[in-house]
Amino acid sequence: MKAMTYRQYGGPEVVTLSDVNKPTPKPDEVLIRILATTVTSGDHRARSLNMPAGFRLIGRLVFGLTRPRQPILGTELAGIVEAVGAEVVNFNPGDEVIAFTGGAYGSHAEYRTVPEAGTIALKPGNLSFEEAASLSFGSMTALPFLRDKARIKAGDKVLVVGASGAVGTAAVQIARHFGAEVTGVTSTSNVELAAGLGAQRVLDYTKTDFATTGDTWDIIVDTTGTVSFARCDTSLRPGGRLVAIQGSFAQTLGIGKPSKASGKAVIAGYVPARPEDLRYIVRLASNGELKPVVDRIYRLEDAAEAHAYVDTGRKRGSVVLTVGDRQWETTAKWRARTSKDVPPRLVPVALR
Ligand SMILES: NC(=O)c1ccc[n+]([C@@H]2O[C@H](COP(=O)([O-])OP(=O)(O)OC[C@H]3O[C@@H](n4cnc5c(N)ncnc54)[C@H](OP(=O)(O)O)[C@@H]3O)[C@@H](O)[C@H]2O)c1
Repeated sequence: MKAMTYRQYGGPEVVTLSDVNKPTPKPDEVLIRILATTVTSGDHRARSLNMPAGFRLIGRLVFGLTRPRQPILGTELAGIVEAVGAEVVNFNPGDEVIAFTGGAYGSHAEYRTVPEAGTIALKPGNLSFEEAASLSFGSMTALPFLRDKARIKAGDKVLVVGASGAVGTAAVQIARHFGAEVTGVTSTSNVELAAGLGAQRVLDYTKTDFATTGDTWDIIVDTTGTVSFARCDTSLRPGGRLVAIQGSFAQTLGIGKPSKASGKAVIAGYVPARPEDLRYIVRLASNGELKPVVDRIYRLEDAAEAHAYVDTGRKRGSVVLTVGDRQWETTAKWRARTSKDVPPRLVPVALR
């Protein structure tokens, strides 16, 4: 089968088209024919080893000391079940599904096997394959951080710094789902996007520093690595939490964390990928509470170009790769619906 692989760390050019063995499902696995996948900030990190401060060595330990252990990137996918193992009971050939392969990667290919008990779910019927493939990376991060770690509740005031990225667009919508009052922080060109996703207020970081507004929040979600506890201390209400999604090594170790007496906390680290969270996210998407944001769409074979765009750090929501021959049909349908539902600037610019 075709797959985009990388055999060494480096720039987008290390990602090249290869012919690799098509996987065979084990008895408890589902074989998925992939129709769409994405290039995420996770793929950027695994490919470039550009890690948050202090994490470079850990990155090598995780991804491979001298060269990548898993040559196929890709953390999420949407596709059609092609075959199932003998013990699989909940999926059948022909089912339209999404899967979050997360830290195991392997989705930038024509096929991927996933355990039936893993992070796989039926695709929401109201989404195209391109939209569905964009659903999990940001949401599988934002949901557990907000709900389980920050214990968000209705009425909380939540600030999302970086509200236009994959994690930020999900965080805005998931915080709204839990009844929070949301302020987004974006650059000028993304103000409208964050407002369209439900942020009641949006601060343009090129004009306003949230830390100098005098406003306070119960939860500050930072997806950009620009907010230390010292910077946001006075912007946090008593008992407030800084959720450092792009936390530094020091933040992860708890260095510089607030005193117990302050009642405030810094939350950083890693969240596990749980199948029930993917199903929760699918329910939100099915009822329209969670809309994937698709920025650009490339062909799988053009993944290096997609990586170059993701490397800019300026993508809005997700960058999608279409896989196989039916790309034109799905993309045309998706484009028709998207142009009605979301601001026109979200129509992909890399279609061809
Ligand atoms: N802890 C975890 O388990 C976990 C899981 C997933 C991701 N992450 C990390 O979370 C971070 C975000 O991931 P992502 O996928 O959301 O990234 P992304 O989609 O690449 O984020 C890009 C967005 O960030 C915005 N941005 C950049 N600098 C900004 C700033 N100073 N203020 C406000 N917005 C800014 C950009 O908007 P403008 O162009 O408008 O600036 C752009 O829309 C990454 O570092 C990733 O490694 C951590």
